Amino acid sequence: MSEKVKQAMEYCAKYGQEHLIPYMRPCYSEESLKFATQILQHDLRLIRDRYTVLRDQEENLCMPPEIFDLLYADTETKQGLFQSGLSAIKSGKVAAVTMAGGQGTRLGHFGPKGTYELPFDPIQSFFEIQSQSLIELRDQAHMEIPWLIMTSQENYADTKEYFEQKRYFGYGRDKIRFFTQSMIPVVDMDGKILVHHREILLSPNGNGGIFSSLHTSGNLQWLKENQIRHLFICGIDNVLVKMADPLFIGFAIQNQCDIAAKSSLKKGPKEQAGVFCLRNNRIAYLEYTEINERIADATNERGEYLFGDIGIGMYVYHIDLIEQLSECPLPFHEARKCVEYSLPTGETIRPEKPNAIKFETFIFDSFSHARKVSVLRVPRNREFAPVKNMRGDDSPEDAAILYSKRKDPLL
Ligand code: UTP
Repeated sequence: MSEKVKQAMEYCAKYGQEHLIPYMRPCYSEESLKFATQILQHDLRLIRDRYTVLRDQEENLCMPPEIFDLLYADTETKQGLFQSGLSAIKSGKVAAVTMAGGQGTRLGHFGPKGTYELPFDPIQSFFEIQSQSLIELRDQAHMEIPWLIMTSQENYADTKEYFEQKRYFGYGRDKIRFFTQSMIPVVDMDGKILVHHREILLSPNGNGGIFSSLHTSGNLQWLKENQIRHLFICGIDNVLVKMADPLFIGFAIQNQCDIAAKSSLKKGPKEQAGVFCLRNNRIAYLEYTEINERIADATNERGEYLFGDIGIGMYVYHIDLIEQLSECPLPFHEARKCVEYSLPTGETIRPEKPNAIKFETFIFDSFSHARKVSVLRVPRNREFAPVKNMRGDDSPEDAAILYSKRKDPLL
Protein backbone atom coordinates (compact mmCIF):
# COMPACT_ATOMS: atom_id res chain seq x y z
CA MET A 1 0.00 0.00 0.00
CA SER A 2 1.34 3.44 -0.79
CA GLU A 3 2.40 5.53 2.21
CA LYS A 4 0.00 8.28 1.17
CA VAL A 5 -3.02 5.97 1.05
CA LYS A 6 -2.10 4.55 4.44
CA GLN A 7 -1.74 8.02 5.86
CA ALA A 8 -5.11 9.11 4.42
CA MET A 9 -6.84 6.03 5.85
CA GLU A 10 -5.47 6.72 9.32
CA TYR A 11 -6.39 10.38 9.01
CA CYS A 12 -10.00 9.45 8.11
CA ALA A 13 -10.23 7.01 11.01
CA LYS A 14 -8.93 9.60 13.47
CA TYR A 15 -11.55 12.20 12.60
CA GLY A 16 -14.67 10.06 12.17
CA GLN A 17 -14.60 9.78 8.33
CA GLU A 18 -14.06 6.00 8.14
CA HIS A 19 -16.70 5.73 5.40
CA LEU A 20 -14.11 7.25 3.01
CA ILE A 21 -11.72 4.33 3.46
CA PRO A 22 -13.47 1.95 0.98
CA TYR A 23 -13.06 4.62 -1.72
CA MET A 24 -9.33 4.00 -1.44
CA ARG A 25 -9.58 0.32 -2.42
CA PRO A 26 -7.85 -1.34 -4.05
CA CYS A 27 -5.22 0.61 -2.17
CA TYR A 28 -2.50 0.42 -4.84
CA SER A 29 -4.61 1.91 -7.68
CA GLU A 30 -4.00 5.28 -9.31
CA GLU A 31 -7.55 6.38 -8.33
CA SER A 32 -6.96 5.53 -4.67
CA LEU A 33 -3.77 7.56 -4.62
CA LYS A 34 -5.60 10.50 -6.18
CA PHE A 35 -8.40 10.23 -3.66
CA ALA A 36 -5.92 10.00 -0.76
CA THR A 37 -4.14 13.14 -2.01
CA GLN A 38 -7.46 14.95 -2.02
CA ILE A 39 -8.30 13.89 1.52
CA LEU A 40 -4.93 14.96 2.87
CA GLN A 41 -5.49 18.45 1.54
CA HIS A 42 -8.40 19.04 3.89
CA ASP A 43 -8.60 19.80 7.57
CA LEU A 44 -10.76 16.92 8.82
CA ARG A 45 -10.43 18.02 12.41
CA LEU A 46 -12.00 21.35 11.49
CA ILE A 47 -14.90 19.58 9.74
CA ARG A 48 -15.49 17.41 12.81
CA ASP A 49 -15.40 20.39 15.19
CA ARG A 50 -17.72 22.55 13.06
CA TYR A 51 -20.16 19.70 12.64
CA THR A 52 -20.17 19.03 16.38
CA VAL A 53 -21.19 22.63 16.99
CA LEU A 54 -24.10 22.35 14.55
CA ARG A 55 -25.26 18.97 15.84
CA ASP A 56 -25.09 20.09 19.45
CA GLN A 57 -27.36 23.01 18.67
CA GLU A 58 -29.84 20.88 16.78
CA GLU A 59 -29.95 18.29 19.49
CA ASN A 60 -30.42 20.93 22.15
CA LEU A 61 -27.07 20.06 23.63
CA CYS A 62 -26.23 23.73 24.01
CA MET A 63 -27.40 24.82 27.41
CA PRO A 64 -27.47 28.28 28.96
CA PRO A 65 -24.16 28.90 30.71
CA GLU A 66 -23.71 29.79 34.34
CA ILE A 67 -22.46 33.37 34.55
CA PHE A 68 -21.40 35.49 37.51
CA ASP A 69 -23.18 38.83 37.18
CA LEU A 70 -21.17 41.64 38.73
CA LEU A 71 -24.25 43.83 38.92
CA TYR A 72 -25.78 41.60 41.60
CA ALA A 73 -22.61 41.03 43.61
CA ASP A 74 -22.49 42.66 47.05
CA THR A 75 -19.78 45.12 48.01
CA GLU A 76 -17.94 42.63 50.20
CA THR A 77 -17.66 40.08 47.37
CA LYS A 78 -16.47 42.73 44.94
CA GLN A 79 -13.88 43.97 47.39
CA GLY A 80 -12.68 40.44 48.02
CA LEU A 81 -12.17 39.85 44.29
CA PHE A 82 -10.49 43.21 43.85
CA GLN A 83 -8.05 42.68 46.72
CA SER A 84 -7.18 39.19 45.58
CA GLY A 85 -6.38 40.50 42.06
CA LEU A 86 -4.50 43.51 43.37
CA SER A 87 -2.33 41.38 45.59
CA ALA A 88 -1.44 39.09 42.61
CA ILE A 89 -0.55 42.22 40.62
CA LYS A 90 1.58 43.63 43.44
CA SER A 91 3.46 40.38 43.80
CA GLY A 92 4.41 40.54 40.12
CA LYS A 93 2.29 37.64 38.91
CA VAL A 94 0.30 39.51 36.25
CA ALA A 95 1.08 40.82 32.75
CA ALA A 96 -1.14 42.33 30.06
CA VAL A 97 -1.16 41.40 26.37
CA THR A 98 -2.81 43.47 23.65
CA MET A 99 -3.70 41.72 20.42
CA ALA A 100 -3.03 44.50 17.95
CA GLY A 101 -2.22 42.43 14.89
CA GLY A 102 -5.58 42.81 13.12
CA GLN A 103 -5.87 44.68 9.85
CA GLY A 104 -8.82 46.89 10.81
CA THR A 105 -10.15 46.66 7.27
CA ARG A 106 -13.66 47.71 8.28
CA LEU A 107 -12.34 50.89 9.86
CA GLY A 108 -10.33 51.65 6.73
CA HIS A 109 -7.32 52.96 8.65
CA PHE A 110 -3.93 52.81 7.02
CA GLY A 111 -1.29 51.53 9.46
CA PRO A 112 -1.58 49.84 12.86
CA LYS A 113 -5.15 50.03 14.18
CA GLY A 114 -3.80 51.06 17.60
CA THR A 115 -2.57 54.35 16.12
CA TYR A 116 -6.04 55.32 14.87
CA GLU A 117 -6.98 58.65 16.42
CA LEU A 118 -10.44 58.73 17.95
CA PRO A 119 -12.60 61.88 17.92
CA PHE A 120 -12.38 62.32 21.69
CA ASP A 121 -11.70 65.48 23.60
CA PRO A 122 -8.70 65.55 23.48
CA ILE A 123 -8.10 63.23 20.52
CA GLN A 124 -6.64 59.89 21.60
CA SER A 125 -5.40 56.76 19.89
CA PHE A 126 -6.30 53.24 21.02
CA PHE A 127 -2.75 52.73 22.26
CA GLU A 128 -2.98 55.91 24.30
CA ILE A 129 -6.26 54.79 25.90
CA GLN A 130 -4.71 51.48 26.92
CA SER A 131 -1.60 53.20 28.29
CA GLN A 132 -3.79 55.47 30.39
CA SER A 133 -5.66 52.54 31.79
CA LEU A 134 -2.34 50.91 32.74
CA ILE A 135 -1.21 54.15 34.34
CA GLU A 136 -4.42 54.16 36.44
CA LEU A 137 -3.55 50.62 37.49
CA ARG A 138 -0.01 51.77 38.35
CA ASP A 139 -1.50 54.38 40.68
CA GLN A 140 -3.50 51.66 42.46
CA ALA A 141 -0.80 48.98 42.62
CA HIS A 142 2.24 51.29 42.95
CA MET A 143 4.02 49.31 40.28
CA GLU A 144 4.01 48.79 36.53
CA ILE A 145 3.06 45.44 35.09
CA PRO A 146 4.67 44.11 31.87
CA TRP A 147 2.70 45.02 28.74
CA LEU A 148 3.15 42.81 25.69
CA ILE A 149 1.86 44.03 22.34
CA MET A 150 1.25 41.61 19.49
CA THR A 151 1.46 43.20 16.05
CA SER A 152 1.32 41.78 12.55
CA GLN A 153 4.61 41.51 10.70
CA GLU A 154 3.67 44.43 8.48
CA ASN A 155 2.82 46.73 11.41
CA TYR A 156 5.64 45.84 13.76
CA ALA A 157 8.08 48.62 12.84
CA ASP A 158 5.37 51.30 12.63
CA THR A 159 3.97 50.32 16.02
CA LYS A 160 7.35 50.48 17.71
CA GLU A 161 8.12 53.80 16.08
CA TYR A 162 4.78 55.22 17.18
CA PHE A 163 5.47 54.33 20.81
CA GLU A 164 8.93 55.83 20.54
CA GLN A 165 7.48 59.04 19.08
CA LYS A 166 4.90 59.26 21.86
CA ARG A 167 7.53 58.48 24.53
CA TYR A 168 5.63 55.39 25.53
CA PHE A 169 2.82 57.58 26.83
CA GLY A 170 4.60 57.89 30.16
CA TYR A 171 4.55 54.14 30.79
CA GLY A 172 7.82 52.33 31.56
CA ARG A 173 9.58 51.69 28.28
CA ASP A 174 11.34 48.68 29.81
CA LYS A 175 7.94 47.20 30.66
CA ILE A 176 6.69 47.17 27.06
CA ARG A 177 7.55 44.24 24.80
CA PHE A 178 6.48 44.01 21.15
CA PHE A 179 6.19 40.75 19.26
CA THR A 180 4.80 39.67 15.92
CA GLN A 181 2.28 37.05 14.94
CA SER A 182 2.62 34.65 12.04
CA MET A 183 1.22 35.33 8.59
CA ILE A 184 -0.53 33.00 6.20
CA PRO A 185 -1.02 33.22 2.39
CA VAL A 186 -4.27 34.64 1.05
CA VAL A 187 -5.96 32.54 -1.66
CA ASP A 188 -8.55 33.24 -4.32
CA MET A 189 -11.91 31.46 -4.38
CA ASP A 190 -10.22 28.48 -6.09
CA GLY A 191 -7.60 28.17 -3.38
CA LYS A 192 -4.82 29.72 -5.48
CA ILE A 193 -2.34 31.90 -3.62
CA LEU A 194 -2.59 35.57 -4.61
CA VAL A 195 0.39 37.74 -5.45
CA HIS A 196 0.86 41.51 -5.25
CA HIS A 197 3.90 43.34 -6.68
CA ARG A 198 5.61 39.95 -7.06
CA GLU A 199 5.19 39.18 -3.36
CA ILE A 200 2.96 36.42 -2.01
CA LEU A 201 -0.04 38.07 -0.34
CA LEU A 202 -0.07 37.35 3.36
CA SER A 203 -2.46 38.13 6.19
CA PRO A 204 -2.12 37.68 9.97
CA ASN A 205 -3.22 34.24 11.17
CA GLY A 206 -5.97 35.58 13.45
CA ASN A 207 -6.03 36.43 17.14
CA GLY A 208 -5.77 32.70 17.96
CA GLY A 209 -2.18 33.06 16.74
CA ILE A 210 -1.33 34.67 20.08
CA PHE A 211 -0.36 31.42 21.78
CA SER A 212 2.14 30.12 19.25
CA SER A 213 3.50 33.64 18.71
CA LEU A 214 4.12 34.13 22.43
CA HIS A 215 6.13 30.94 22.28
CA THR A 216 8.10 31.53 19.08
CA SER A 217 8.93 35.11 20.03
CA GLY A 218 10.53 33.88 23.28
CA ASN A 219 8.00 35.79 25.39
CA LEU A 220 6.45 32.72 26.94
CA GLN A 221 9.86 31.72 28.25
CA TRP A 222 10.40 35.28 29.50
CA LEU A 223 7.01 35.29 31.28
CA LYS A 224 7.81 31.99 32.97
CA GLU A 225 11.26 33.14 34.02
CA ASN A 226 9.65 36.20 35.57
CA GLN A 227 7.11 34.12 37.51
CA ILE A 228 4.09 35.57 35.70
CA ARG A 229 1.06 33.35 36.37
CA HIS A 230 -1.89 35.28 34.95
CA LEU A 231 -2.12 36.95 31.57
CA PHE A 232 -4.74 39.59 30.95
CA ILE A 233 -5.48 39.49 27.19
CA CYS A 234 -7.54 41.98 25.20
CA GLY A 235 -8.04 43.37 21.71
CA ILE A 236 -7.05 46.85 20.66
CA ASP A 237 -10.35 48.40 19.74
CA ASN A 238 -12.52 48.56 22.88
CA VAL A 239 -12.19 52.11 24.24
CA LEU A 240 -13.69 51.13 27.62
CA VAL A 241 -11.17 48.35 28.28
CA LYS A 242 -9.93 48.10 31.87
CA MET A 243 -6.39 46.83 31.47
CA ALA A 244 -5.60 44.01 33.91
CA ASP A 245 -8.68 44.93 35.96
CA PRO A 246 -7.78 43.69 39.48
CA LEU A 247 -11.34 42.53 40.14
CA PHE A 248 -11.26 40.40 36.98
CA ILE A 249 -7.87 38.93 37.88
CA GLY A 250 -9.24 38.15 41.36
CA PHE A 251 -12.27 36.50 39.75
CA ALA A 252 -9.97 34.19 37.74
CA ILE A 253 -7.89 33.36 40.81
CA GLN A 254 -10.80 32.70 43.15
CA ASN A 255 -12.56 30.52 40.56
CA GLN A 256 -9.33 28.59 39.95
CA CYS A 257 -10.12 28.59 36.26
CA ASP A 258 -7.57 28.50 33.48
CA ILE A 259 -9.60 30.99 31.43
CA ALA A 260 -11.80 33.80 32.72
CA ALA A 261 -13.75 35.81 30.16
CA LYS A 262 -15.82 38.96 30.47
CA SER A 263 -19.26 39.15 28.91
CA SER A 264 -22.01 41.74 28.53
CA LEU A 265 -25.66 41.39 27.63
CA LYS A 266 -26.58 41.45 23.96
CA LYS A 267 -28.72 44.32 22.65
CA GLY A 268 -31.21 42.03 20.94
CA PRO A 269 -31.61 38.65 19.20
CA LYS A 270 -30.13 39.92 15.95
CA GLU A 271 -26.96 41.50 17.30
CA GLN A 272 -24.04 40.23 15.25
CA ALA A 273 -21.98 38.86 18.11
CA GLY A 274 -21.03 35.44 19.43
CA VAL A 275 -22.45 34.19 22.74
CA PHE A 276 -21.34 31.94 25.57
CA CYS A 277 -23.10 28.63 26.11
CA LEU A 278 -22.62 25.39 28.01
CA ARG A 279 -21.65 22.38 25.92
CA ASN A 280 -20.62 19.02 27.34
CA ASN A 281 -20.76 20.62 30.74
CA ARG A 282 -18.21 23.27 29.93
CA ILE A 283 -18.33 26.85 28.77
CA ALA A 284 -18.01 27.22 25.00
CA TYR A 285 -18.42 30.09 22.58
CA LEU A 286 -20.82 30.15 19.66
CA GLU A 287 -19.80 32.36 16.82
CA TYR A 288 -22.47 34.65 15.44
CA THR A 289 -22.69 32.62 12.23
CA GLU A 290 -23.31 29.43 14.23
CA ILE A 291 -26.28 30.72 16.23
CA ASN A 292 -29.63 29.36 15.07
CA GLU A 293 -32.97 31.07 15.72
CA ARG A 294 -33.85 28.88 18.68
CA ILE A 295 -30.71 29.94 20.47
CA ALA A 296 -30.94 33.58 19.40
CA ASP A 297 -34.53 34.03 20.63
CA ALA A 298 -34.68 31.74 23.70
CA THR A 299 -35.73 33.58 26.87
CA ASN A 300 -36.63 32.57 30.43
CA GLU A 301 -39.90 33.37 32.23
CA ARG A 302 -38.59 36.86 33.06
CA GLY A 303 -37.97 37.56 29.38
CA GLU A 304 -34.18 37.47 29.74
CA TYR A 305 -32.16 35.89 26.93
CA LEU A 306 -30.92 32.43 27.87
CA PHE A 307 -27.98 32.88 25.54
CA GLY A 308 -27.59 36.60 26.06
CA ASP A 309 -23.93 36.93 27.02
CA ILE A 310 -21.72 38.16 24.23
CA GLY A 311 -17.94 37.96 24.40
CA ILE A 312 -16.34 41.37 24.81
CA GLY A 313 -12.75 40.35 24.12
CA MET A 314 -11.23 40.45 27.59
CA TYR A 315 -9.69 37.36 29.13
CA VAL A 316 -7.42 36.15 31.89
CA TYR A 317 -5.42 33.05 30.94
CA HIS A 318 -3.36 30.95 33.30
CA ILE A 319 0.23 30.61 32.12
CA ASP A 320 0.10 26.79 32.21
CA LEU A 321 -2.73 26.76 29.68
CA ILE A 322 -0.88 29.28 27.48
CA GLU A 323 2.05 26.91 27.45
CA GLN A 324 -0.16 24.01 26.46
CA LEU A 325 -1.86 26.06 23.73
CA SER A 326 1.42 27.29 22.31
CA GLU A 327 2.00 23.86 20.84
CA CYS A 328 -1.51 23.04 19.83
CA PRO A 329 -2.80 24.39 16.51
CA LEU A 330 -6.25 25.98 16.55
CA PRO A 331 -8.62 25.39 13.62
CA PHE A 332 -8.72 27.87 10.77
CA HIS A 333 -11.89 29.79 9.88
CA GLU A 334 -12.30 31.55 6.58
CA ALA A 335 -13.15 35.17 5.91
CA ARG A 336 -14.10 36.28 2.42
CA LYS A 337 -12.71 39.73 1.63
CA CYS A 338 -11.97 42.13 -1.24
CA VAL A 339 -8.24 41.95 -1.78
CA GLU A 340 -6.14 43.84 -4.32
CA TYR A 341 -3.63 41.68 -6.20
CA SER A 342 -1.58 41.71 -9.39
CA LEU A 343 -1.26 39.56 -12.48
CA PRO A 344 2.05 38.24 -13.83
CA THR A 345 1.92 41.13 -16.34
CA GLY A 346 2.08 43.57 -13.42
CA GLU A 347 -1.51 44.75 -13.88
CA THR A 348 -3.21 45.45 -10.54
CA ILE A 349 -6.72 44.10 -10.00
CA ARG A 350 -8.97 46.02 -7.59
CA PRO A 351 -12.01 43.81 -7.00
CA GLU A 352 -15.34 45.32 -5.97
CA LYS A 353 -16.73 42.19 -4.42
CA PRO A 354 -15.06 39.55 -2.23
CA ASN A 355 -12.49 37.68 -4.32
CA ALA A 356 -10.24 36.21 -1.67
CA ILE A 357 -10.19 33.95 1.36
CA LYS A 358 -8.19 34.85 4.43
CA PHE A 359 -7.63 32.09 6.95
CA GLU A 360 -7.85 33.03 10.61
CA THR A 361 -7.72 31.30 13.96
CA PHE A 362 -9.87 32.59 16.82
CA ILE A 363 -8.81 32.90 20.44
CA PHE A 364 -12.10 31.46 21.71
CA ASP A 365 -11.38 28.13 20.00
CA SER A 366 -8.92 27.65 22.83
CA PHE A 367 -11.82 27.26 25.29
CA SER A 368 -12.21 23.59 24.43
CA HIS A 369 -8.65 22.97 25.70
CA ALA A 370 -9.30 24.54 29.10
CA ARG A 371 -10.05 22.61 32.25
CA LYS A 372 -12.38 25.33 33.47
CA VAL A 373 -13.70 28.55 31.91
CA SER A 374 -15.56 31.09 34.06
CA VAL A 375 -17.49 34.08 32.79
CA LEU A 376 -17.91 37.42 34.52
CA ARG A 377 -20.79 39.59 33.26
CA VAL A 378 -20.00 43.29 33.44
CA PRO A 379 -22.18 46.32 32.58
CA ARG A 380 -21.90 47.02 28.90
CA ASN A 381 -22.00 50.81 29.08
CA ARG A 382 -19.03 50.76 31.46
CA GLU A 383 -16.79 48.25 29.73
CA PHE A 384 -17.63 47.66 26.11
CA ALA A 385 -17.45 50.19 23.30
CA PRO A 386 -15.65 48.59 20.34
CA VAL A 387 -14.71 50.57 17.25
CA LYS A 388 -15.06 48.38 14.19
CA ASN A 389 -16.66 50.47 11.43
CA MET A 390 -16.16 53.90 9.92
CA ARG A 391 -19.86 54.67 10.22
CA GLY A 392 -23.02 53.20 11.76
CA ASP A 393 -22.83 50.70 14.61
CA ASP A 394 -19.56 50.52 16.54
CA SER A 395 -18.25 53.70 14.91
CA PRO A 396 -15.70 56.11 16.43
CA GLU A 397 -18.56 58.58 17.07
CA ASP A 398 -20.54 55.98 19.08
CA ALA A 399 -17.42 55.19 21.09
CA ALA A 400 -16.77 58.89 21.80
CA ILE A 401 -20.20 59.24 23.43
CA LEU A 402 -19.77 56.11 25.57
CA TYR A 403 -16.23 57.10 26.50
CA SER A 404 -17.28 60.57 27.65
CA LYS A 405 -19.88 59.00 29.95
CA ARG A 406 -17.70 56.20 31.30
CA LYS A 407 -17.36 57.67 34.77
CA ASP A 408 -20.89 59.10 35.00
CA PRO A 409 -22.23 57.80 38.35
CA LEU A 410 -25.82 57.97 37.11
CA LEU A 411 -25.21 55.59 34.22
P1 UTP B 1 -11.28 41.76 14.55
O1 UTP B 1 -11.86 40.43 14.36
O2 UTP B 1 -12.20 42.87 14.85
O3 UTP B 1 -10.40 42.08 13.27
O4 UTP B 1 -10.17 41.64 15.68
P2 UTP B 1 -9.66 43.39 12.79
O5 UTP B 1 -8.54 42.90 11.94
O6 UTP B 1 -9.26 44.31 13.90
O7 UTP B 1 -10.73 44.15 11.90
P3 UTP B 1 -11.32 43.80 10.45
O8 UTP B 1 -12.11 42.53 10.61
O9 UTP B 1 -10.15 43.67 9.51
O10 UTP B 1 -12.17 44.99 10.15
C1 UTP B 1 -10.43 41.53 17.06
C2 UTP B 1 -9.14 41.78 17.81
O11 UTP B 1 -8.17 40.80 17.46
C3 UTP B 1 -6.99 41.39 16.95
C4 UTP B 1 -7.43 42.75 16.42
O12 UTP B 1 -6.33 43.66 16.40
C5 UTP B 1 -8.50 43.14 17.43
O13 UTP B 1 -7.90 43.67 18.57
N1 UTP B 1 -6.44 40.56 15.88
C6 UTP B 1 -7.22 40.12 14.87
C7 UTP B 1 -5.09 40.25 15.92
O14 UTP B 1 -4.36 40.66 16.85
N2 UTP B 1 -4.58 39.48 14.92
C8 UTP B 1 -5.35 39.03 13.89
O15 UTP B 1 -4.81 38.33 13.01
C9 UTP B 1 -6.71 39.35 13.87
